[in-house]
Amino acid sequence: MNNEVSMEELKWWQKAVFYQIYPRSFADGNGDGVGDFHGMIDRLDYLQELGIDALWLSPHYPSPQHDCGYDVADYTGVAPEYGTLDDFKRFLDGAHQRGIHVILDLVLNHTSDQHPWFIESCSSRDNPKRDWYVWRDGKDGRPPNNWCSFFGDSAWEFDPVTDQYYYHAFLRQQPDLNWRNPEVKRAMWDAVRFWLDLGVDGFRLDAVGTIFEDPALPDHTAEKSLPELHRAFMAASSEGELAQVIEQRKEIFQYQLEQPGLHELMRELRAIVDEYPDRVLVGETDEIAYYGDGTDELHLAFNFPLMKAERITPAWVRANQQGRLTALPPGAWPCNTLGNHDSPRVYSRYGDGQNDEAIARLSLALMLTLRGTPFLYNGEEIGMIDLVLEDISQFRDNLSVWIYHTAVDEFGLPPAEALAYANRFGRDKCRTPVQWANAPNGGFSPAGVQTWLPVNPNYAQGVNVADQLADPDSMLNFYRRMLRVRKQTPALIAGDYTPLHEDAEDYLAFLRRSKADGQTCLVVLNMSNRAHTLRFDLDAHLARLVFSSHARDGDTDDLSQLTIAPFEIYIAEIV
Ligand code: NOJ
Repeated sequence: MNNEVSMEELKWWQKAVFYQIYPRSFADGNGDGVGDFHGMIDRLDYLQELGIDALWLSPHYPSPQHDCGYDVADYTGVAPEYGTLDDFKRFLDGAHQRGIHVILDLVLNHTSDQHPWFIESCSSRDNPKRDWYVWRDGKDGRPPNNWCSFFGDSAWEFDPVTDQYYYHAFLRQQPDLNWRNPEVKRAMWDAVRFWLDLGVDGFRLDAVGTIFEDPALPDHTAEKSLPELHRAFMAASSEGELAQVIEQRKEIFQYQLEQPGLHELMRELRAIVDEYPDRVLVGETDEIAYYGDGTDELHLAFNFPLMKAERITPAWVRANQQGRLTALPPGAWPCNTLGNHDSPRVYSRYGDGQNDEAIARLSLALMLTLRGTPFLYNGEEIGMIDLVLEDISQFRDNLSVWIYHTAVDEFGLPPAEALAYANRFGRDKCRTPVQWANAPNGGFSPAGVQTWLPVNPNYAQGVNVADQLADPDSMLNFYRRMLRVRKQTPALIAGDYTPLHEDAEDYLAFLRRSKADGQTCLVVLNMSNRAHTLRFDLDAHLARLVFSSHARDGDTDDLSQLTIAPFEIYIAEIV
């Protein structure tokens, strides 16, 4: 692993901490219950003071919102409920003026069924855009094959007007584009250039693995059907069992994922992006193959395996880092995250019910001290938790609604149980509005306005920005402090990673050493409720404290007997 490069020589996206904004839920500037660009612009100072360096904006394009914006109806527009293109430009300029980069979500695999391209494609079999999507004849009145959509049921939707089926990897309102048609590429690359010309700093690529399907359309050969696997998925009581079902599920999608052509396409996109100075591509994929040779495909691919655990334990992190860092091609840069708009909130997911706050702080410390670019998710900085919805009418995520109805209609479960599944596997719970103040609607929207998803009432118990800004010990101020520490500590950004005490069950200890910056840091994250006195046999015997989550005596420690408190986050420079 190359650690000869100093912090200064790294690219901005290697040094940056990214923060994901979910536009619908971030800040409501016009008081209509939905987030928007005015709200985002008003909060740019907040973001700058928080100390993040870059924003990833989930889709902001016009969309009928069947999949919360991941069904795009116009790739070069702005959803009217979020504002105008001028508002977007003001937001982008405002971010840039504050030294904050902005990347957009790019949904390549599919469009909305309301996109003019699809409307044309649907209009007749000989429409020039017919081949922009994946149309096939049925077989004896049935879909062309047994493929499933990732969101349940058949992946094929029948169009009675033209008497053919179209393919959709996700919802039926999200028809897949046919990327083998060069006109599709040209149109999408035009959209890419449109945003790059406006000055955006790159893209997060949605669902990259789904872009191509096997053109021969062979039936999948999985033994279990998707509903059977969903049953098993719902019944799974541990992350381990869930992982097994997910493995079996992959067989169902064997011809719909990671098909030939993807890497050539990524290289083509990279070449376009490289025409512009200093832009970045990050893929919604954990496949290391997307790094290409380390320079010719995506700059970053998420280390999703790290987050797929019931609890983040030292052994889990060590095994993950060992596998991931050694597998990266030369020159490739890691990218870590623990939460996003598709997964439970970090605070809820990894907490043990007793030490949730301490564990959430450790989770942040892990993100900011591991080698690689961290991605944080809006609201986690105030310790927002999953919101359990009480009635199916409150759900906005079609996946949850589908889970609910499948549970009731196909599995015959009582509504209360089906609701629990919709909450557990659906994604609304982590998408609720950001809580800005102890005020009606959590200060997101004015009193009396119905927000698009309910606000978590725990804003009244201190889970809100305003209260936490005023409290030096709050989660928010902890985030601010830790983000500052990372920025001021080159080894945490540019340094290599060496695990220490590799058998320790309770704590994770490692070195981050940047030769080029002349700095080595020791990081100890005590993930247990036990204190430990540790001995580190390093070249040097003393460490100068950089950061601790706990009060410590003095700022120099003897490495032959370093005492670490329960749940302590300890970062020190080796002197
Ligand atoms: C991944 C996105 O993160 C998710 O929210 C969306 O539903 C699917 N891709 C389909 O676009």
